Amino acid sequence: MRPDREEFRTRQHVFDQFTNRTLFELSSHNHFNQLQSPLSTGKESNVFTAEKGKKLVIVKIYRLQTCDFRRMYEYIRYDPRFMGLENNRRKIIFAWCRREYSNLLLAEEAGLTVPHALAFQNNVLVEKFIGEKQEAARKVKDHMPEDPEDFWQQTVKQLKKLRAIGMVHGDLSAFNLLNFQEKPVFIDLSHTTQERNPRYNELWERDLHALFTFFRKLGVKIDEEAVKKEIFKR
Ligand SMILES: Nc1ncnc2c1ncn2[C@@H]1O[C@H](COP(=O)(O)OP(=O)(O)OP(=O)(O)O)[C@@H](O)[C@H]1O
Ligand SMILES: [Mg+2]
Repeated sequence: MRPDREEFRTRQHVFDQFTNRTLFELSSHNHFNQLQSPLSTGKESNVFTAEKGKKLVIVKIYRLQTCDFRRMYEYIRYDPRFMGLENNRRKIIFAWCRREYSNLLLAEEAGLTVPHALAFQNNVLVEKFIGEKQEAARKVKDHMPEDPEDFWQQTVKQLKKLRAIGMVHGDLSAFNLLNFQEKPVFIDLSHTTQERNPRYNELWERDLHALFTFFRKLGVKIDEEAVKKEIFKR
């Protein structure tokens, strides 16, 4: 059963009118029925679970009013796919959301384990829920792998696939890596960009540094040069 517009609006959380309309339209197209509970409130976005029939999906809503769109612009303006993007709040936020949608699909196509992207419109992205029943998979920082060495090796395998298609996550850390049934799932591909971006190598270095630090704390022995060689070799 689909809610009518008024009913939908009052049941949604407090977003601006434009965002509520976008949510309503996505739900009218059956991407989800109803927002459920807030999973997280990040710097730029609010992430909700939402019902879609008997299943759950994730709805990520970039906040139009309180997004740091200047910071976003500094990231996205060097992405070859968004050259010439106007420095305009809404345009940047919409491009940011569209880019994350497209990044998720490209990464999935390359064989990475990422949530399947289902839809996007304006500042709202819908993707597959990673978890069991109602319980969302936890971030690896909150749910330590039983076998850190094995988890690390799985992570490296995925990084190789990302590098092979000339992309970099750009915001990788134990916050944006889920531990789902002892398998790494990469999330939050909003910073993910391509090789022609002048910051490509710098972002790879930063991502790897964050992971090296985290996995070392879990006791994994890491030979940085060997890992880089493995990931970067053509
Ligand atoms: N597909 C998903 N399945 C399950 N949980 C998810 C999914 N996507 C996001 N989450 C949860 O929501 C949180 C925030 O998502 P995400 O990292 O994409 O947004 P964010 O705005 O960058 O948040 P932050 O600014 O805190 O990093 C994640 O850390 C994770 O716990
Ligand atoms: Mg995040």
